[in-house]
Amino acid sequence: MSQYIPSISPSSLAKKVILITGGANGIGASLVTQCLEYGANVCIGDLDGVSGERLLKECRDKFPPEEEDSPPRVIFQPTDVSIYPSVLALFDLAFKTYKRIDHVVSAAGIVEIGNWFDTALTMETVRQTPTHQVLDVNLLGSMYVCRIASVYLRHNRGSNCDRSILLFSCVSGFKDSPSLFIYQASKHGVVGLMRSLRTYISSPYKHYLRINTVCPWVTQTNSIKKVEAQWKGAGLPINTPKQVATVATGVLTDQTLNGKSMFIEGGRAWEIEENIGQLESEWLGEAPSRTLALGQGLLDDGTVWNAPERPQKKSTISVGVPPGVPLGKLKGLTNGVKHTISNGVSNGMSNGLTNGVH
Ligand SMILES: NC(=O)c1ccc[n+]([C@@H]2O[C@H](COP(=O)([O-])OP(=O)(O)OC[C@H]3O[C@@H](n4cnc5c(N)ncnc54)[C@H](O)[C@@H]3O)[C@@H](O)[C@H]2O)c1
Repeated sequence: MSQYIPSISPSSLAKKVILITGGANGIGASLVTQCLEYGANVCIGDLDGVSGERLLKECRDKFPPEEEDSPPRVIFQPTDVSIYPSVLALFDLAFKTYKRIDHVVSAAGIVEIGNWFDTALTMETVRQTPTHQVLDVNLLGSMYVCRIASVYLRHNRGSNCDRSILLFSCVSGFKDSPSLFIYQASKHGVVGLMRSLRTYISSPYKHYLRINTVCPWVTQTNSIKKVEAQWKGAGLPINTPKQVATVATGVLTDQTLNGKSMFIEGGRAWEIEENIGQLESEWLGEAPSRTLALGQGLLDDGTVWNAPERPQKKSTISVGVPPGVPLGKLKGLTNGVKHTISNGVSNGMSNGLTNGVH
């Protein structure tokens, strides 16, 4: 099975610098406290200035700096993750204070606002542009955090120094969530963002960072007020913020984890990415799974999508699988692809071919 049991060594976060968005309340706040308990320095960014300042005071009282002239163990800055310069200013503060950042956690998130697909909408009311704040905070905010983290995490990095990004998705990142239309799209987007980055960002020749997601199910915070009573009444499992924070800390500190998604229910965590890959031929079918593998191998880390446009030389050798060709007849496809690529696209691609298709 895919159960993930966090194993956190007491020193694994000692003196690490961790930037956490959405750290003023709920799961984020629990993670802030846990990281401080493990000896890290923490930079909190959150829209909620009141809770942020309150948590800051509590934490500063409980976790004073080890030496008098050291910076405080925890700092806070009001931040709106949906505004790029605001996210940038948070990273600047962390970097200025601690001279480096080791891990970044994107936990800021909000739940559905209103009903985009209200059956009461009319030809008149549908003309008003709906709010996309949920998408802006949950998805665009995570994308801003990842982009800026990809640069800041590379700086002041010693040799063999592990650096990572952790994104907060949800069970809605992989399972139907009726009526949470925009929320679900945003949380699928977060898992998609992690999947698009996990090969690219982890390459030692690119950013050399790890990236993972956590996908909590119902967790005891303000976010679940609307379903709380029914959920508890039904005796369904519910996470405490601390349990989710423990899984997050485990993922942050485990240097072997990259590209994983941890579903968390009742305090237990289950990794979902590996089985999706391993069981693909069962849920998709053997033939399409094999063809898909050829295409994925060809695209490899996706360098081709970023390569500058070049005039393509004409090749007489066909590429790809013509529609309707049985897989048994695909012998030689790999050669065909290889020639076409070396004739036409970019050098970067030939690596992908050697690793993936052959
Ligand atoms: N509680 C759950 O059941 C649950 C389940 C699955 C996923 N999650 C995810 O976990 C994360 C934490 O959720 P939570 O339950 O602790 O919620 P919460 O509301 O307790 O905390 C979320 C924090 O994000 C902050 N925030 C909101 N908008 C922001 C913005 N624009 N910029 C910066 N900060 C902003 C809030 O002020 C708050 O402090 C979220 O991403 C949420 O989607 C929660």
